[in-house]
Amino acid sequence: MGLHQTEDNLQQFTATITNHREVAHNLVWVGLRAPAAALREARAGQFVFVRCGDPASFDPYLRRPFSLAAFDVDGESAALLVRVSGRGSRWLTERVEGEQLDMIGPLGNGYRLDERSRHLLAIVGGERQPHLAPLLPLLKSAAARELSVTLLIEAEREAYLPPASLLPPEVEYQTFFREAGDSAIAHIKPLLGWADQVVAAGPDDFLAALKKVAGAVYPRPDIQASVERPMACAVGVCLGCAVENERVGYLRACREGPVFDLWKMVL
Ligand SMILES: Cc1cc2nc3c(=O)[nH]c(=O)nc-3n(C[C@H](O)[C@H](O)[C@H](O)COP(=O)(O)OP(=O)(O)OC[C@H]3O[C@@H](n4cnc5c(N)ncnc54)[C@H](O)[C@@H]3O)c2cc1C
Ligand code: FES
Repeated sequence: MGLHQTEDNLQQFTATITNHREVAHNLVWVGLRAPAAALREARAGQFVFVRCGDPASFDPYLRRPFSLAAFDVDGESAALLVRVSGRGSRWLTERVEGEQLDMIGPLGNGYRLDERSRHLLAIVGGERQPHLAPLLPLLKSAAARELSVTLLIEAEREAYLPPASLLPPEVEYQTFFREAGDSAIAHIKPLLGWADQVVAAGPDDFLAALKKVAGAVYPRPDIQASVERPMACAVGVCLGCAVENERVGYLRACREGPVFDLWKMVL
């Protein structure tokens, strides 16, 4: 398993697929063996930039970003939770145990778990599958620190929902399905008074709806939200991943994000 520092001081490493299973419709867990040195500084919410094609080919040319859905420095292991949405993600989910993946990372700024926090509310949406991956390591460390954790999760339909077995057993898990006319956001108000920390992940329209509902609650809770943007470089150069910020103009999802203060985001 190789690890080397690129000229830009990024870590490039090889990870080996150790297990590989479809956990829901079009949603694949990819377990990896990865060098401890590559994972030492990893934080929940960070991502890796993965080459999603044959090593001898430049197709697709650009790497694809995927959140670290799990990482364990001592066990030299990590995982991705991949939604099949195009040719890169499909290539990734068609790999088998023993195959190697070329990665750069971990990259970006992740979630911060406040030391004083006792009640963590996580809220996750998605186009079909919810964007659960960036939150999984955070839920794991919150449960290990004995916080009360409630997760509201929304999918288009039940077949797209990640199974509860991916979560620590301590997490209270409430599910909502849009095909049944329900939404997680419709259920957050009572929990916003209970939570002393709120974390979210999902597409922009989901985060915009969350911002609107939570903005009507007083006092307004702090909410850290993870965004997704198409990424060409993932190192802050191309500016293709810009996220508008009320105070400072535009920030880069790959450098200043992908986790941002929801209240400062223009959605
Ligand atoms: C920081 C970050 C973390 C991510 N974490 C995960 C993860 O844990 N699991 C996961 O399955 N996916 C994750 N994604 C999304 C993932 O990177 C894209 O789904 C993937 O790059 C699509 O590549 P593709 O070749 O499969 O699809 P393509 O053929 O390139 O695109 C398929 C469709 O998806 C759209 N698309 C491409 N990239 C993105 C993107 N980044 N955001 C939104 N739409 C996009 C395209 O416009 C197109 O409509 C993350 C994205 C970011 C930026
Ligand atoms: S992807 Fe190029 S600046 Fe973020």
